[in-house]
Amino acid sequence: MLLNQKTLILIKPDGLKRRLSGTIIQRLENKGLRLTAMRLLKVSDEMARKHYSVHEGKPFFKDLVEYITSDPVVAIIMEGNNAISVVRNLVGATDGSKASPGTIRGDYAISIEKNIIHASDSEESYNHEWPIFFSQKDIVAFTYGDEQLF
Ligand code: CMP
Repeated sequence: MLLNQKTLILIKPDGLKRRLSGTIIQRLENKGLRLTAMRLLKVSDEMARKHYSVHEGKPFFKDLVEYITSDPVVAIIMEGNNAISVVRNLVGATDGSKASPGTIRGDYAISIEKNIIHASDSEESYNHEWPIFFSQKDIVAFTYGDEQLF
């Protein structure tokens, strides 16, 4: 059990523009995850290339960078027990048309590119991703009033 693990989440431009930010944050909070940092921002080309550097050279890399920089995103750090695998399970398969109903992509996405949300897939990815969007001072510690119930 990885206590208080952190994960980096991006509500992608399609999620933001479809007014799904609140719904997505609500679903993650309902699970028991804790908001730790959050900002609304336009991703620069440099940030996008760094964030998606593992995909550099793949046929979809150019479109991926163009898409994530096309409109703002909501960047979030959430924290909780096994947060990386918990969030990946809630998010569902990469391709929205194949993601299981009940997952975020399964319920709201039908595309592999416009798939609503990004979430770190490993601790290594989280360590690479979070400093692209946040600095240490953005990370805020607090406890929800009902935290002992989770
Ligand atoms: P994300 O979780 O943001 O991480 C990388 C993204 O690349 C992924 O979501 C998809 O949106 C996108 N992606 C992965 N595989 C493909 C593919 N075969 N074609 C187009 N986009 C892809």
